[in-house]
Amino acid sequence: MHANIVVLPGDGIGPEIVSATLPVLEAVAARPGHSFSFQEHDIGGIAIDRPGEPLPASTLEAARKADAILLGAVGGPKWSDPNAKVRPEQGLLAIRKGLGLFANLRPVRPHAAALGASPIKSELLEGVDIVVVRELTGGIYFGDKTRSATDASDLCRYTVAEIERVVRSAATLARSRRGHLTSVDKANVLETSRLWRDVAARVVREEFPDVTLEHQLVDSMAMHLLSRPRAYDVIVTENMFGDILTDEASMLAGSLGLLASASLGDGKIGPDGSPKAERQVGLFEPIHGSAPDIAGKGIANPYATILSAAMLLRHSLGLEAEAAAVEAAVSAALDDRVFTADLAAAGQAVNTQQAAQAVIERLR
Ligand code: IPM
Ligand code: MN
Repeated sequence: MHANIVVLPGDGIGPEIVSATLPVLEAVAARPGHSFSFQEHDIGGIAIDRPGEPLPASTLEAARKADAILLGAVGGPKWSDPNAKVRPEQGLLAIRKGLGLFANLRPVRPHAAALGASPIKSELLEGVDIVVVRELTGGIYFGDKTRSATDASDLCRYTVAEIERVVRSAATLARSRRGHLTSVDKANVLETSRLWRDVAARVVREEFPDVTLEHQLVDSMAMHLLSRPRAYDVIVTENMFGDILTDEASMLAGSLGLLASASLGDGKIGPDGSPKAERQVGLFEPIHGSAPDIAGKGIANPYATILSAAMLLRHSLGLEAEAAAVEAAVSAALDDRVFTADLAAAGQAVNTQQAAQAVIERLR
């Protein structure tokens, strides 16, 4: 197959982790029958500096035509003035929205070799296998904002249709896994959460009778995620709760540098989380940010980006065997304790390129 992959390195460590990941995809493409072309475009702070907007029209245009998009990270102190009119993060939100990527899958599967890096007791982590499905194009991230000298507001709004489609994606995924779906909200306080809970309950009752649905309030979910993570299979939640809970969940895996994500559109997620009949354009990015404190040093953990590339192979290109091979290669590198500084004991760390090279060497 031939695939046209749009590459958006972005800011901070983004260019480093993306350039470490492309050779992994190239190694996959070297297999008979595949050819990938990579087209690099600007997004985020670098795009504010050059074309002058965080999501240049040319980037969105290229992304629309692509088979898949691989993104590094956006943001940094250079563009973080609280009074700035444009921010790098707007570019990320705009591309998610512009491509209709409403379902953000964030798998959390602690790896045995990295358990020691987690602040949570190892016995609680064994067998943990969660996918958080974060709603990505609605809620407080996208509501009207106001700001005056004396007050500010961010509107949180959800429509029934927005809730239905992401719950369907999550329930479809749950059905292909252990059949357990946890919907997270703040229905004791927020009206949007009461709507969320009603819609989730109806969609699962009417369309997914084989899926068990549990509702959790977000505050107690934040606790249970650490105290009994094995109890969860698929978690579906609104945009901001999903953002917060997944940074928390990354501590189960031992590092933010290990969590990948896939942002997908209209619900064509099939068994095993793979696409159903049609291929689906998606955006793939690590869940972590641009880590300005370590940017340019070549020491960032590339595994989350490499694992995001595996999700790209699976969800957008339909290359399940190749995706599994990349995941197995990362797993093998972790087994061999090829750790970047976020995971390694002092003095034992490899750099970004060495970690990526270890993955390539372990690709079957
Ligand atoms: C993420 C990030 C982004 C978000 C930021 C950079 C806008 O934290 O992908 O989790 O909040 O969605
Ligand atoms: Mn986040």
